[in-house]
Amino acid sequence: MKIRVGVLFGGMSVEHEVSIISGLQALHALDTNKYEPIPIYITKDGKWYTGPSLTSVDAFKNIPDLLKNSHHVILHTESKGVHQLINPKPTLFGKGNKKVIAEIDVAFPVTHGTLGEDGALQGHLELNQIPYVGCNVLASAVGMDKIVMKTVIRGAGIPSVNYVWFYSRSWDVEQEACINRVEAELTYPVIVKPANLGSSVGIKKAANREELIDAVTDALMYSNKVLIEQMVQNLTEVNCSVIGDHEEVETSICEEVLKSDEILSYQDKYMSQSKGGSKGMTSTNRKVPAEISDEMTQQVKELAKRTFLELGCNGVSRIDFLIDKDNGSVYVNEINTIPGSLAFYLWEPVGKSFTQMTSQLITLALKRHRENAQLTLSYDSNILALQGKGGGKLGTKN
Ligand SMILES: Nc1ncnc2c1ncn2[C@@H]1O[C@H](COP(=O)(O)OP(=O)(O)O)[C@@H](O)[C@H]1O
Ligand SMILES: [Mg+2]
Repeated sequence: MKIRVGVLFGGMSVEHEVSIISGLQALHALDTNKYEPIPIYITKDGKWYTGPSLTSVDAFKNIPDLLKNSHHVILHTESKGVHQLINPKPTLFGKGNKKVIAEIDVAFPVTHGTLGEDGALQGHLELNQIPYVGCNVLASAVGMDKIVMKTVIRGAGIPSVNYVWFYSRSWDVEQEACINRVEAELTYPVIVKPANLGSSVGIKKAANREELIDAVTDALMYSNKVLIEQMVQNLTEVNCSVIGDHEEVETSICEEVLKSDEILSYQDKYMSQSKGGSKGMTSTNRKVPAEISDEMTQQVKELAKRTFLELGCNGVSRIDFLIDKDNGSVYVNEINTIPGSLAFYLWEPVGKSFTQMTSQLITLALKRHRENAQLTLSYDSNILALQGKGGGKLGTKN
């Protein structure tokens, strides 16, 4: 029997539409000799839908009609290895009877941003004990929070641009002190970012104190933590993708991303061919391979692998770099644990088709599931049964 793959896309983030494109690209790339693709669309308010109409991008032009022709479902694990998509409401026949719409063997999240790429969805899949593609809860969560990610990679000696961060509370009660810290540790211009969004939302350059106040105020509308980074002014942006797990990793070709403004915008990323409709990350203006020296390419690849391993990633990630053309410094900017279009366009030039890549990702998901199943998660003992038999006093935990 074919492995049934539930491809999840859409979701509650600002990258909802981009995820529909990435998700359907992945769904259509699956090797149908081995896998049965099952689309699972997550609406902007978090409801899950499945059904054959959810497989074409065009159908998403009219979402209300599309949903009328699809099934609203929730994930239910019936027993070990039996994962069902069931109707959340009792059926008309037999109160409380569940209606199984489909069964899946592995979940394949192609969801970007908040609640899709940040560990929340991954946690839901963990609780359902279903194998899933991509990073686990920890790697997803660390990758999503730009501040925590920088702290972790810094700790590992991986270079990133200098930064300062604070909570919105500090900004509210001691704004002057926050500004002083920024001005003591960095020099204008700086880049201000909310800790955890994506797609350049809420990111602004600040060239002076007035602009800093404006940019921080704006960023704090999106997150209660704000990151202020030294701006690399003479910048080359390079991305490199990594596939694998803790045992074996491969790096893709490097791409150079071209932008129309100082900050690579949502427009640059997704709408640069707006006349022909959005094509996801594949439409960004880019040079493949990046026009950097062989030596620098090696450095980027090495840092991409180290970042992937340090964060405990699995599946495919894309690590984005900032290169300072003035002095040749290479900095890790961020990691995308579910990159736009799964970065397939960086793998095709090195001989890995999108179809081969999706098969590899599913194989990695099943491997991790098997490995985790072998770990000891609990002792087979009931301390309550020991009570009164010299088992010590209960209710204290050292
Ligand atoms: N320190 C920096 N110096 C110069 N430009 C930057 C810096 N940080 C970000 N940028 C610009 O802003 C864009 C978006 O920032 P990034 O951290 O990648 O956020 P996102 O998660 O939204 O992609 C980058 O692609 C780059 O063009
Ligand atoms: Mg980015």
